[in-house]
Amino acid sequence: MKAAVYTQYGPPEVLKIKEVEKPTPKQNEILLRIKATAVNSGDWRLRKADPFAVRFLYGLLRPKINILGSVFSGEVERVGEAVKDFNAGDLVFGHADMSFGAYAEYKCLPENASIALKPANISHLEAAVIPFGGVTALHFIKRAMIKPGQKVIVIGASGAVGSAAVQLAKSFGAEVTGVCSTANISLVKSIGADKVIDYTKEDFTKNGETYDVIFDSVNTLSISRSLRSLSKNGIMILSAAGMSEMIQGLWISKTSNRKVLTGVISHTKSDIVFIKELIEAGKYKPVLDRTYSLDQIAEAHAYVEKGHKKGNVAIEV
Ligand SMILES: NC(=O)c1ccc[n+]([C@@H]2O[C@H](COP(=O)([O-])OP(=O)(O)OC[C@H]3O[C@@H](n4cnc5c(N)ncnc54)[C@H](OP(=O)(O)O)[C@@H]3O)[C@@H](O)[C@H]2O)c1
Repeated sequence: MKAAVYTQYGPPEVLKIKEVEKPTPKQNEILLRIKATAVNSGDWRLRKADPFAVRFLYGLLRPKINILGSVFSGEVERVGEAVKDFNAGDLVFGHADMSFGAYAEYKCLPENASIALKPANISHLEAAVIPFGGVTALHFIKRAMIKPGQKVIVIGASGAVGSAAVQLAKSFGAEVTGVCSTANISLVKSIGADKVIDYTKEDFTKNGETYDVIFDSVNTLSISRSLRSLSKNGIMILSAAGMSEMIQGLWISKTSNRKVLTGVISHTKSDIVFIKELIEAGKYKPVLDRTYSLDQIAEAHAYVEKGHKKGNVAIEV
């Protein structure tokens, strides 16, 4: 089968299209024919080992996992003998988590992985770009227990995680403000934000407003600046926090009534099913910026790494 393979950390050009062996499903696995995947921040960070700590988990000198791509949409081609929930021919989408491997024509996954039937009202390209931002934002929104009527501000509202956070916070009944640049104002309004602040023209930390939840998906502001806009018992979500923000966050959570949520996300099949149902109910839309072919994977990585995509970038496999 055809796959985008990398055997050394480095620039987008380390991704090479190669023929590799097609996988065979174990008893509890499904074999998926991947129709679409996506390039996410997690992929380019792993490709270039940024931050350096990536190497402690994924290989000190060279990557242990050679096919990136964590999300997918496609068709079940074959199932292992013990599989009960899926059949050949099912159209599914999901998140392969740390096993990656979706930049390929085929991938095997256990049936209890984060997989659900694809919503009928969206294409494979649209479905493939949902899970990365979707499960990341959902993980933090569930931990923050966002309630109807709460004021939530999302920083980086036009990114993969931010655009998902806007839509999920709205679906939980919050009043949502999105922070983005001028070019993305109409996009952020179109996904349901009640208010939009253009970060190139206004500093939201200086306008006197306070929020019950600040969801910072890009980590471009210092915690001390954002804290000015957090209500007394508010929750700050730092989904892109580095080590120093994690330590500061721990300290704030221990010494005040405010909570700072950081860390690596986790997700289950029920999260993907939850998002699928929101899509089918018309409460969650895929945000698709560009589509590339698998052969153009290096080009797609170079674009995503710049950090200014609008929502997501899909790969047609
Ligand atoms: N905790 C976890 O387990 C976890 C899971 C997934 C992702 N992450 C992390 O989350 C981060 C974001 O991921 P992503 O995929 O959402 O990134 P992304 O899609 O590349 O986000 C880029 C977006 O950020 C916006 N942006 C840049 N500077 C901004 C600023 N100063 N204010 C407001 N918006 C700004 C950009 O808009 P403009 O073009 O308008 O600037 C762009 O739309 C990554 O660092 C990733 O590593 C963490």
